[in-house]
Amino acid sequence: MRYIPFGKTAWKVSAVGFGCWQAGMTAWGTDYSEYDASSAIKSANDSGVNFFDTAEIYGNGISERILGEALKDRDAFVATKVAGYNATRIERSFDRSLRNLGRGIDLYQLHWVPSIYTNLEKVLRSMESLVRRGKVPYIGLSNFPASTLKSVSEMLSREEFVSNQVQYSLVDRRIENSLVPAMQDLRLQVIAYSPLGRGRLSGKYFDSPLPKTVSRFSGFRPGRYDPDPALKKSLQEVSSKHGASIAEVSLAWVTSRGVLPIPGAKRPDQAIANSRSGNLVLDPEDLRSLDSASVRFKSGEYGNLMPRLVPNRAIRLVSEGVI
Ligand SMILES: NC(=O)c1ccc[n+]([C@@H]2O[C@H](COP(=O)([O-])OP(=O)(O)OC[C@H]3O[C@@H](n4cnc5c(N)ncnc54)[C@H](OP(=O)(O)O)[C@@H]3O)[C@@H](O)[C@H]2O)c1
Repeated sequence: MRYIPFGKTAWKVSAVGFGCWQAGMTAWGTDYSEYDASSAIKSANDSGVNFFDTAEIYGNGISERILGEALKDRDAFVATKVAGYNATRIERSFDRSLRNLGRGIDLYQLHWVPSIYTNLEKVLRSMESLVRRGKVPYIGLSNFPASTLKSVSEMLSREEFVSNQVQYSLVDRRIENSLVPAMQDLRLQVIAYSPLGRGRLSGKYFDSPLPKTVSRFSGFRPGRYDPDPALKKSLQEVSSKHGASIAEVSLAWVTSRGVLPIPGAKRPDQAIANSRSGNLVLDPEDLRSLDSASVRFKSGEYGNLMPRLVPNRAIRLVSEGVI
């Protein structure tokens, strides 16, 4: 496993992390068990992965509990997220996540841009207060588009907010247009969620339909993120050249951009395959082929339709798969 500096922090993290939405045991189907989810986390860590991402809303605490239990007595960086946004709720959520995990939190992230009914500056200040009082070493953002990032950049402490977790993969390259440059100005690390396009870039659905789980479709406009023949061909060629799986190549393309992918895995076999991509370095010819085959997925601006007008509760229910 390669290790990379995590933005402006002192950490060295694995080039590939691990996402724990699946360990929430809802929204991702019934073809795996809690035991599988927990074993996947341990297998990833045994393979050198040391950065794990979860959220309070994944299974309403279940994911945090499974992650904490699986990582017991192991060294790792644990990132979680808060979805409720007034100052009192942030403090309460933080303490509950600590209890769920049974260990310290290394990175505490705002899951989404708060709705316009919430005072953004107050929210940012209450996050910073957690750092100032020594409760967490670092705080991060998630789903912040360039437009919001620019308008809040004066409010952000340049030291404490260290990352922005956003959707990024070969089938969603919108962040490259405005968001990445805005993040570079603020020295924020890009963390890529859904780096396998929620399974679309694993290769196994190239010739068969996606399973109908809520997770596959929430936030994914039908058809918009399906790999087209040019991208499938490029992925197939690069993966056979390296003797690697299509999932590994898709993740190695993300790491080639200095971005930290956090693929979700339901079982140890997936976790081990994804960890292998931390050692796969694609050559310039591979990157040129993948870049040009995926260029159409760059169109549009990331997150501009992520409406601050939608009340937090509605966003939360969608993401939990309730509506
Ligand atoms: N901040 C946010 O708003 C946000 C939003 C979404 C996700 N996230 C985070 O990002 C993480 C990853 O994103 P994601 O789970 O949405 O999507 P993803 O990582 O793109 O896709 C994960 C799915 O792909 C399939 N898969 C994974 N590894 C595979 C392999 N090696 N071979 C074949 N199939 C494989 C599995 O599903 P099947 O086996 O069922 O196909 C798995 O559940 C989440 O766990 C979560 O921590 C954050």
